[in-house]
Amino acid sequence: MMFSRSSSRFFQCARANSSRNPLQRQQCNTHIGQWRDRVSVSDLKPAPRLASVSSNWKELHAESLRDPEQFFGSLALERLKWQEKFQVVRNVDMNKGHLEWFLGGKLNVSENCVDRHANSHPDRPALVWEKDEPGDTEIVTYQQLLEMVCKIANVLKEFNVHRGDVVAIYMPVSPMAVATMLACARIGAVHSVIFAGFGADSIRSRITDAGAKVVVTADQGVRAGKTINLKQTVDRAVDGLSLIETVLVMQRTKADVPMKHGRDVFLDEAMLNALPWCMPEVMNSEDPLFILYTSGSTGPPKGLLHTQAGYLLYAGLTHQYVFDCSPGDMYACVADIGWITGHSYVVYGPLSNGVSTVLYEPGVPTYPDPGRYWEMVERLRIKQFYTAPTAIRMLMTSSDTYVTKYNRSTLRTLGSVGEPINAKAWQWYHDLPGEQRCAVVDTWWQTETGGISLTPRPAGDTFLKPGMPMRSFFGVEPVLVDPESGQPLEGNNVNGHLCLSQVPPGMARTIYGSHQKYQDTYWNVHPGLYFSGDEARRDSDGHYEMMGRVDDVMNPKGHRLESAEVEDALVNVPAVVEAGVVGYPHPQFGEGIYAFVVVKEQTSESDESVIQDMRQVVRQRVGGFAAPDRTLIVKALPKVRSGKIMRRVLRKIAADISGEVGDTSTCADSSVIDPIIELHEKKFPKSK
Ligand code: WT7
Repeated sequence: MMFSRSSSRFFQCARANSSRNPLQRQQCNTHIGQWRDRVSVSDLKPAPRLASVSSNWKELHAESLRDPEQFFGSLALERLKWQEKFQVVRNVDMNKGHLEWFLGGKLNVSENCVDRHANSHPDRPALVWEKDEPGDTEIVTYQQLLEMVCKIANVLKEFNVHRGDVVAIYMPVSPMAVATMLACARIGAVHSVIFAGFGADSIRSRITDAGAKVVVTADQGVRAGKTINLKQTVDRAVDGLSLIETVLVMQRTKADVPMKHGRDVFLDEAMLNALPWCMPEVMNSEDPLFILYTSGSTGPPKGLLHTQAGYLLYAGLTHQYVFDCSPGDMYACVADIGWITGHSYVVYGPLSNGVSTVLYEPGVPTYPDPGRYWEMVERLRIKQFYTAPTAIRMLMTSSDTYVTKYNRSTLRTLGSVGEPINAKAWQWYHDLPGEQRCAVVDTWWQTETGGISLTPRPAGDTFLKPGMPMRSFFGVEPVLVDPESGQPLEGNNVNGHLCLSQVPPGMARTIYGSHQKYQDTYWNVHPGLYFSGDEARRDSDGHYEMMGRVDDVMNPKGHRLESAEVEDALVNVPAVVEAGVVGYPHPQFGEGIYAFVVVKEQTSESDESVIQDMRQVVRQRVGGFAAPDRTLIVKALPKVRSGKIMRRVLRKIAADISGEVGDTSTCADSSVIDPIIELHEKKFPKSK
């Protein structure tokens, strides 16, 4: 498919290919003929023999870049179950950001993740649900998962969900949520998971943008001993939205929730009458699998669209070789399914590899105490463990005995993701939980890349550098670009925009509804390269270290958030005139959220009560994690003449480096800056 018009072509094709009309089908496949003579699948040599710590890593990596068609084509044939083999390995144009893999191939992702293992190992745990209270664990075997997926698939069909339709999922981390994702994949529907910590406005805008017709939610979520009213939030989000035909409600706590007649249905009840078998829909490699919204540097959150085969292959490949996972291993990634980490490394990667994957409900690492992770590691005999630096920094402040009193001898690999991991946190993770014998893998990637792109693994040596992802994975070629000249930087000891000159098969194919935005954001900044939005450094050995975002994307507690999302919510507070929001260095959260706010003159309440109102509004509209950690009420904000807030200046003030505000000649009225610095220093003295 070409994306010359809009990404909705994806959906037309998804529908057309399910059609019985061969003409319609042909239209969507015509481009295959163009490429058919390039590579013949029968010419592919057997896949390379890989190992997680492999001495010929360098050669294999070079091979993956020199001949990606042979490298990934052979792996795709070997690792995935195809209903029809692909004819063309890839059609990639890095100048246009046009990516297609495994053209002509037909497969079903849920069949790959569930049926294959249900057939060979029906009683192996697929999902290990670590519920909020320690020791309250529920196991779902591959056979049971297959039944759940089929039943939910049949329920979705009953409620009018067809191939190509979008289903919004706003659910707690639970087997039902995972099975719902897989049920969508089974019938060719496209899921859009919305993190169950987002507020009503964020849900509504995501539902509207994707045109979802069904929402699957729960009565309540349970996190760290507290219940969260999910259904209530969904009710507010979809109020008056004619788009939503059905709201399916899983009963997590069996709380009494209002059910709207004709729209709301209890999922568990609907499943009682559903058949336990559903034929997997035959999907094209490039049909959409899911949309996942993420914050971008400008405008509302973007719906990154991922497709079937390339995504699944890359999620499985990275999961196996970065974490050193074998079928049947007990593996835990404690991320929420609402983020890409949950998609690729709680659900699709581990399940495609036949691993037992832990679903961690409490969210936080400190419930009921800071020993929770390691108690769970001992009890479930976890081999690979994947978390975020913010959790590690939180745990570091507690006594070592929370770690040492539990047996961690099963652990082999410890992963980190989401933000730079400082050397001190890396060392603690390596020395204490990892007993100095586990590999710590700092993995850099993004919602956009779909899977891990920079990581120390697999590599032939066990040499690791604290706090650095070091190298690129198979099929990925990093390039650092000078932001001023736009030229690639040669040699070592250089900093620049992190770009990729070769991208993995798991890359997002478009921004749903706006292919132009996708091209402009990622492909037109440095032509011929994918631009990540991050800055990186290549050290004297040629290893990569991440330096943070170069745009207005913040990263509080490893959650991606854009300044404007918080600013837009803040101006809904009646007393607020305008707001400028930036990140600032925070010892625990990595980045804290700092709001500089101008309030109406007649505002009579005390500063503190207005600030509390602001936090409340942001919580409700965007989500709890977006509430500002620091708020400063100021007289005016620094702006350029066109009216744009100079966040660059605010960022320096917030970071206590106001001496470095730099050139303010473009500021319409630079006299507003000094009073802000004064107020900031008074309210947040450096020593605190
Ligand atoms: C942004 C992507 C991909 C999983 C979770 C976040 C930052 C991610 C690292 C790392 C330094 C990192 C980047 C990136 N990031 N991993 N290991 N070291 N920074 O996905 O929400 O799409 O955010 O997270 O800034 O661009 P995401």
